[in-house]
Order: sequence, then structure tokens, then C-alpha cells
Amino acid sequence: MTEKQTAALSDLLVTLSSPRSPISEAYRTLRTNLQFVSLDKPLRTLLITSPGPEEGKSTLLANLAIAIAQGEKKAIMVDCDLRRPSLHKLFGLDHQRGLTTMMLDDKALTDPPLQETGVPGLQLLASGPLPPSPPDLLGSQRMDRVLTVLKERADMVLLDAPPVIAVSDATILATKVDGVLLVVSAGQTRRDSVQAAKTRLEKVNARLIGAVLMNAPLDTSLQQYYYTRQEKG
Ligand SMILES: Nc1ncnc2c1ncn2[C@@H]1O[C@H](COP(=O)(O)OP(=O)(O)OP(=O)(O)O)[C@@H](O)[C@H]1O
Ligand SMILES: [Mg+2]
Repeated sequence: MTEKQTAALSDLLVTLSSPRSPISEAYRTLRTNLQFVSLDKPLRTLLITSPGPEEGKSTLLANLAIAIAQGEKKAIMVDCDLRRPSLHKLFGLDHQRGLTTMMLDDKALTDPPLQETGVPGLQLLASGPLPPSPPDLLGSQRMDRVLTVLKERADMVLLDAPPVIAVSDATILATKVDGVLLVVSAGQTRRDSVQAAKTRLEKVNARLIGAVLMNAPLDTSLQQYYYTRQEKG
């Protein structure tokens, strides 16, 4: 990675800035767990959402995608948040061309406007120009074709979505992917919101793989134990 690329990357990408930290280790554990939950039906498309706004969806998606790419697998991140797209910002890229471009332009459908992130094996399909009605686009058959094209180019396609409650975008997308991960933010996401989001996803028969707790305080006693054991071993 060049110095300019490194400078453009967000501090939130801990898997790049501190690959040996406990947080990066947690992302690698999540990557491994996802492989195990899907032994029978491999996860090729994964939707990441949460009950409400600003609960860490995009941060989790980007770090998980980096962990997957660091594990020698090809990954594509797709910014399906056509209301407040943000993945491009984390990587210092732009969102002029992307998902909605593939919806409107036949040439882009066969030759997707994927951007290199600077992380080997990891590409971004940004949002593209924002449409007036995201659910119409996300629920279209054209969206299925986009996913088919992207799956041919990566081992894992990760979709970033707006919150489940308030808009229908995430539940619509949930019907088109192999699995859904629900992000919950410690001390922020309310218990009844988690239940409401789960109910909505179950209603459309989404394959809810599990929930990930973001912003949880680090358990220092466990770390101590782990490091002590390592030193002895
Ligand atoms: N570990 C962290 N430390 C500090 N700030 C954080 C951390 N994780 C996330 N944030 C901040 O919290 C905000 C929300 O993060 P993020 O964009 O990942 O959430 P989101 O659920 O995708 O939000 P949205 O609903 O807007 O899509 C961002 O402004 C980000 O800078
Ligand atoms: Mg987001």
C-alpha cells in the first residue's frame, strides 16, 4: 500500500492499523465463526444491518471485509445504504459510480465500477448517485442480476444497509442474500429495538446468522489470562 493510500484510510479500520490488537482478533474470530455456521450452505452474500442509526454497521462491515481479504479470500463490499452511503469515506474513495450505476447502465452491469481499496483482494462497489426511492431499486430483479455478477468476482459479497427499523431497505435486501448479521451497540441499542428488528427480518424469512455486539468494553481479565497463558506456553 502506498503512503497516500494509508493516509486516506480511516482510523476506524483497526484491522489495518492494529492487526495484532484484541479488536482485530475479534474480527478474525467472527470471520472464522461465519465459515462454521455456513458449512452446509456457504455464505457468499452477507447483509449487515442494525435496528437503528449509527450503531457501527459500516465500521463492522469494513473491518470484517478486511479480515476476510487478509485471510486470502476475495471480498467485495457493496454500499447498499442509498440514503447515507459511507463505505467510500472509510477508504478515502468516492461514490460517483457504483451500485446505482449498475442498475441504470447495461455496460456497467457487465463491467462493474469496482474500486480498489488498497487492501489486496478487497474491492468496493460504492453507492453511485442516490435514487429518489431506494426500496424500488433494491427490490428489483436488476438487483438480483447485480448480485450474480458480483458473486462471480469474489468469494464473499458484503452488503451495507440502512437500519432495519424506519425504512424497508434492509428487509428487502434480506430476502436476496445468503445470511444477515445484526449489529447491536452496547449501551445504545435498546432491547425492544433488537426484538423489533429480529421480528421484521423473520417475517420475510431472512436467514439471521447472529448478532454482533459493537462498542463493548474490553474484558481485560480475559486478555490477561490469554496473554499469561501464551507467555508460559
Ligand atoms: N470504535 C469506534 N470508536 C469511535 N467512534 C466510532 C467507533 N465505531 C463507530 N464510531 C463512530 O460512530 C458512528 C457510527 O459508525 P458507523 O458509520 O459504522 O455506524 P452505522 O451503523 O453504519 O451508521 P449509519 O446508520 O449512519 O449507517 C460514526 O460516526 C463513527 O465515526
Ligand atoms: Mg452505515
